[in-house]
Amino acid sequence: MKTTTVPSTSAPPSTARSSRVAPHSHIKGLGLTPEGLALPDGAGFVGQTNAREACGVVVELVKSRKFSGRALLLVGAPGTGKTALALAVSHELGVKVPFCPMVGSEVYSTEVKKTEVLAEAFRRAIGLRIKETKEVYEGEVTELTPAEAENPLSGYGKTVSHVIVGLKTVKGTKQLRLDPTIYEAMLKEKIVVGDVIYIEANTGAVKRVGRSDAYASSYDLESETYVPLPKGDVHKRKELVQDVTLGDLDAANARPQGGQDIMSVMGSLIKSGRTEVTEKLRKEVNKVVKGYVDQGVAEVVPGVVFIDEVHMLDIECFTYLNALLESPMAPTVILATNRGNAIVRGTTDVVSPHGVPVDLLDRCLIVKTDTYNREQIAKVVQLRANVEGLKLGPGVLERLAEEGERGSMRYAIQLLTPASILSGLAGRNQIEVDDIGEMNELFLDAKASARNIGSDGGFDGGRM
Ligand SMILES: Nc1ncnc2c1ncn2[C@@H]1O[C@H](COP(=O)(O)OP(=O)(O)OP(=O)(O)O)[C@@H](O)[C@H]1O
Ligand SMILES: [Mg+2]
Repeated sequence: MKTTTVPSTSAPPSTARSSRVAPHSHIKGLGLTPEGLALPDGAGFVGQTNAREACGVVVELVKSRKFSGRALLLVGAPGTGKTALALAVSHELGVKVPFCPMVGSEVYSTEVKKTEVLAEAFRRAIGLRIKETKEVYEGEVTELTPAEAENPLSGYGKTVSHVIVGLKTVKGTKQLRLDPTIYEAMLKEKIVVGDVIYIEANTGAVKRVGRSDAYASSYDLESETYVPLPKGDVHKRKELVQDVTLGDLDAANARPQGGQDIMSVMGSLIKSGRTEVTEKLRKEVNKVVKGYVDQGVAEVVPGVVFIDEVHMLDIECFTYLNALLESPMAPTVILATNRGNAIVRGTTDVVSPHGVPVDLLDRCLIVKTDTYNREQIAKVVQLRANVEGLKLGPGVLERLAEEGERGSMRYAIQLLTPASILSGLAGRNQIEVDDIGEMNELFLDAKASARNIGSDGGFDGGRM
């Protein structure tokens, strides 16, 4: 069988794009009852009950494999939770389901063909769960002591000569003496005493599993995952599950391989991500993947592609999207837009709802998101304050909700962080109404900002 490069566990997978998801970290799912009804607020989702129930139906359709060839189109004003809904759908489809967000305008890159960008996004949204049995050292870290030695190369500096790591399981403990490179890997993974980790014996790759639940706190909302103390010996054979996407496999196999010399390392740095991934290579990767699946080593996990601002795509992309939807290994496709009727890009006279051609619209289930009232905004702001660890003084929530009602949900949420900086500067650990007031003096919301420029045309003589 042909060998295919699987990126090593320590290589950053396609989750490098996760930063765009962080503002939604309070969203854990759609928050529906088993009957599919939306709780007034559940799983971090407040209100928006119709849209959530509709998305719940889509999740059921996807799970029963009745959604292929179709797409979900979310329409609604900015900040009404379209991105949050898409993310919640991917959560509902299962843990470790790839979520690949992109913005319509991303296709207009000068380096890659428009259709390639779409094809790549679709590949990144198909996960592959690979199971391998490996020799590992696993346990809760009880000790992490780097041993220093004089650096033989510089007279004064010290280097880490080795690191002593204590690992504990239910059955026993073991002290390991490890290479400094492993210590670096541990620093990168931000491993501290009390974390449960495993180290692959052959490669020295370190993986943080989570925090030992002996250290668990009682907060409901926390990003930390707590895991029980591992059973069995510290040194053992363990079935490791590695999640990669077809996009990762394409990229890893497109990169020039082998060679540890500096030129090839530099080459792969510069070209990484943008080396040709040809249709031929994709077919080859597919063949190997199919082999793995047939042998029971790997399992395909279809994920979600989310294309925000879908009206930014042009007619060429739309026809290609139709074709991608029909392909046998297509992920779930969610589109979002805040446009009403608009000209389809790339045409001069085709006006269509949401700027999406009718042949694609025909394949879509359309779900509308509603605007929020003050009470709902207040609830979400409180959720975000909890997630970000910010304390709110009396009246602050009401004030922010008011701001949100005038502006948008997003505006209210985004006031939180700068306000916390102002309160920090004033030496307080809690946001007060005055901070919000000061914010309004320092910054403008969009409507006020537009009013400021007024009808005299703008800063640059009317060309705004
Ligand atoms: N019903 C809700 N419950 C909890 N949080 C919400 C809800 N709706 C929106 N949010 C939060 O509000 C913020 C803005 O929402 P989101 O980014 O999903 O809006 P959007 O409709 O995608 O806007 P845009 O059109 O500008 O992309 C996010 O942080 C999101 O998590
Ligand atoms: Mg959005």
